[in-house]
Amino acid sequence: MIPNAIVTPPFNITRASHAVLTARDLGATRAFYCDVLGFLPSNQDRDALYLRGIEERSHHSLVFHRTDSASVCERIGLRVFTDEDLDKAADHFTRLGHPVRWAEVPHQGRTLHVDDNVGMPLELCAVMDELPPSLQKFELYKGASPMRLDHFQLVTHDVQRAMEFYLALGFRLTEYTATDGKDEIWGAWLQRKGNPHDVVFSNGRGPRLHHFAYTVPETRDIIHVCDVAGSLGFGRHFERGPGRHGIGNALFVYFRDPDGHRIELFNAHYQAIDVNHTPLRWDLTDTRRSQLWGLPAHAKWFFEASEFPGKPLHEPLLHAEPVTLEKFLATHF
Ligand SMILES: [Fe+2]
Repeated sequence: MIPNAIVTPPFNITRASHAVLTARDLGATRAFYCDVLGFLPSNQDRDALYLRGIEERSHHSLVFHRTDSASVCERIGLRVFTDEDLDKAADHFTRLGHPVRWAEVPHQGRTLHVDDNVGMPLELCAVMDELPPSLQKFELYKGASPMRLDHFQLVTHDVQRAMEFYLALGFRLTEYTATDGKDEIWGAWLQRKGNPHDVVFSNGRGPRLHHFAYTVPETRDIIHVCDVAGSLGFGRHFERGPGRHGIGNALFVYFRDPDGHRIELFNAHYQAIDVNHTPLRWDLTDTRRSQLWGLPAHAKWFFEASEFPGKPLHEPLLHAEPVTLEKFLATHF
């Protein structure tokens, strides 16, 4: 069952903002993201690397902290509109019984840490350091020319519960996947900024980060970055695609970074602003939902994801699996 959207939320989240991850070798991480994919470095020291897309004026949309342990995603970053929204957020989450903590974070204004209702560690801020524009420095365009962070896909044991939490924060549902003939929600595409998604939840062992996604300017960039990866010896980091998602209409390609974190590079999604934008429903067994053409993704794409530190994994409450490449080939060929 899908609750109604809340169009006057308790505070104003504006968009997916940034991801905070760990990496075992910041040099290898920088080579992959900057030399191959085309990210811009904003800052680097011995223990941290800050990256941004070409269009982004904010200091960072990806942060990598150096680690000697297994790599994880530390936090999912969301932007709120004003500092006043941060105070309202703190009050709101406290009323719900979610502990909040104010954090000092380099290159960001006041920052609020809180977990959502399925265990995802969030980081909310209203402002970041601002950098000069690079959009028209065309000499910087290389690799995929990543423009801006668009969305996160998160794996949770309870998509219904997560969806209700984010709908109550003013997110709106654009598309969803449900079990055939029923309304058991397997995946929910939720947005605040007026396109198909800021946060996606899919059914599985969670909480985990499945991927983060950046827009690219041209379809050609999606092919070109594959060639660049191959020519620079990063071809084995290619994971899936190119292809077109039925959900969201994105033309996509997926890579795994040196620590296994997954990134999607895509373009061609659509606007979803009007208040009566009816969510599109997809059956879980309809393989066109994940790829309009071509073969389904292999099982590793569906089932591997980055964990959050100290967050125990929960088995999914909904026992329903997607059509993987392995399953598809076994039944169709
Ligand atoms: Fe995505």
